Amino acid sequence: MCGIVGYIGTKKASPILIDGLLKLEYRGYDSAGISTMENGYISNMKDKGRVKNLYELEGIHDLSGTIGIAHTRWATHGKPAKENSHPHMDNSNTFSVVHNGIIENYQELKAFLYDNGYHFLSQTDTEIIPNLIHYYYSRSTEIDEKLLHAIHLACKDLKGSYAIEVLCKDEPNTMIVARKDSPLVIGVGEDENYISSDIPAILSYTKNFYLLNDGDLAKLSKNQVSFYDLNLNSISKELKSIDWDVSACEKDGYEDFMLKEIYEQPKSVRETIGSRLKKNEKVNFEDIGFTKETLSKFNKIYLVACGTAMHAGLAVKPMIEKLCHIPVIVDIASEFRYREPLIDENTLCIYISQSGETADTIAALKLSKKEGATTIAISNVIGSSITREADYTIYTHAGPEIAVASTKAYTSQITLLTLLTLYFAEVLESVDAKVINEIKEELLLLPEKISEVLQDSTKVKDFAHRVYTEKDIFFLGRGTDYTVSMEASLKLKEISYIHSEAYAAGELKHGPIALIENGITVIGILTDPNLVEKSVSNLQEVITRGAKTLIVTNQELNKENYDEVITIPNTNPLISPILSIIPLQLFSYYISKEKGLDVDKPRNLAKSVTVE
Ligand code: F6R
Repeated sequence: MCGIVGYIGTKKASPILIDGLLKLEYRGYDSAGISTMENGYISNMKDKGRVKNLYELEGIHDLSGTIGIAHTRWATHGKPAKENSHPHMDNSNTFSVVHNGIIENYQELKAFLYDNGYHFLSQTDTEIIPNLIHYYYSRSTEIDEKLLHAIHLACKDLKGSYAIEVLCKDEPNTMIVARKDSPLVIGVGEDENYISSDIPAILSYTKNFYLLNDGDLAKLSKNQVSFYDLNLNSISKELKSIDWDVSACEKDGYEDFMLKEIYEQPKSVRETIGSRLKKNEKVNFEDIGFTKETLSKFNKIYLVACGTAMHAGLAVKPMIEKLCHIPVIVDIASEFRYREPLIDENTLCIYISQSGETADTIAALKLSKKEGATTIAISNVIGSSITREADYTIYTHAGPEIAVASTKAYTSQITLLTLLTLYFAEVLESVDAKVINEIKEELLLLPEKISEVLQDSTKVKDFAHRVYTEKDIFFLGRGTDYTVSMEASLKLKEISYIHSEAYAAGELKHGPIALIENGITVIGILTDPNLVEKSVSNLQEVITRGAKTLIVTNQELNKENYDEVITIPNTNPLISPILSIIPLQLFSYYISKEKGLDVDKPRNLAKSVTVE
């Protein structure tokens, strides 16, 4: 979704800002713009379309300012158009503002500003912010920190979510930023500071960051950052070092980030396992440190997330129930938060989010905390919002995921949730140690087995070539294979724009089989020996009706029955999603390539969904 970059230092700001925006392209956007502080005025250049188009705007190469703000917009209020692009300026051209998030009471504030003589050039909620700042600034009686006070008063009026950067013509050596429910970080360099909504945009300049909390404001000069809370009390912050590698944010010779991230999975799963699991040792979650007494009090576990992260929850539900004997409810965050779910102090709520910034997941977390539940955040991004809200945080350590379609984050989420389940089962002594040890051994073998799956993608590529013009594709499976079907179907929709459905194979006869007709493509996932015969029968039913089939399996099957069979290594069925999804990630990828689509930046989608 929208991205923010800012720079205040001694170098020419515009190339740094545009470079940062290019690194944020993966988040999804439809327009871009920058404002820089020039000699005595604020320059504001923006347009709809790609970031690289900014280089073609008249005068952009003449900008010499060393302070600037920049933005990629993903339209919410008002269509993608130059006038709706950020930065937005106030009527007097004194303030320039970029904004991520949504101002829920903008109509009310707009009416108030109209009544006070302001006019508006865009349909956005954002344009009220520079004008509201102007309203307070022009009426201020403050002698010190007039700008800071005006921005503070404006922020207090805003309902909804925001991360903002503000430039003011009257204070040419200052920038002010603020956040609430939308991410913003400050990167610290020598005689310069960088601002961004996402760490990767500025990772090539610094690895030292300040993370802003909800309600925080910061005033920046090139060599100083001062922090304030929502009541404008001065506060101090700890500088954090991020150990992500810059090359991890680049394509490294791969054609697309998605392909790179698919091929990174042996490494990312190994990193997720990290030091939590060693041969013949108990699983280590010292950082959580639950006792048997604490765990025994939980009479249900909620796994709450959106999209792919929610699918990771679905994949581990059977394992938690089987090994820990605690009922598990997997819920979509945007449903959970509005449904008055039955949660209390005996509920454990686990929130899964790659970005840690998904608005619905954060809201669901806040709700369950209010009801007294214990909360754990699982995230890939250090210091992200959910990690700061939850009682406990565990990181997937999958490395930055840039492609919009999530791949390595999913396998790392399942890996981490598997480790957590094993840890719970060991503490609870709820299952025979032999069962736990077998899964542990299999888990340690996974990176090698993933490499094996990735060694040869010819069959998947060929099958993608045969079916990429299809209008509908179906995925079938039972048990954990069904959960993988859902994830595979989501991946296909996202990046190939082919309509696709996932069904529990046993449900087929209850309706969906009516859709099966001659020539349709059906993909079957068959990795659970206890269910394979049943699924084979269901596949037979679609083959009889003329379906083309691709099968992903680790079982002995009569290959002649199917158009293509992809054999993957055997593993415990409870963790097989980590292997069986991989050929299907590649399948979506190759279909998208065959169709000539932008794999990393599919239409209408954003990497981090920071509005509900
Ligand atoms: C699908 C995808 C999305 C995300 C969802 C949650 O490929 O990426 O469905 O999984 O938007 O995002 P996070 O995990 O950042 O909360």
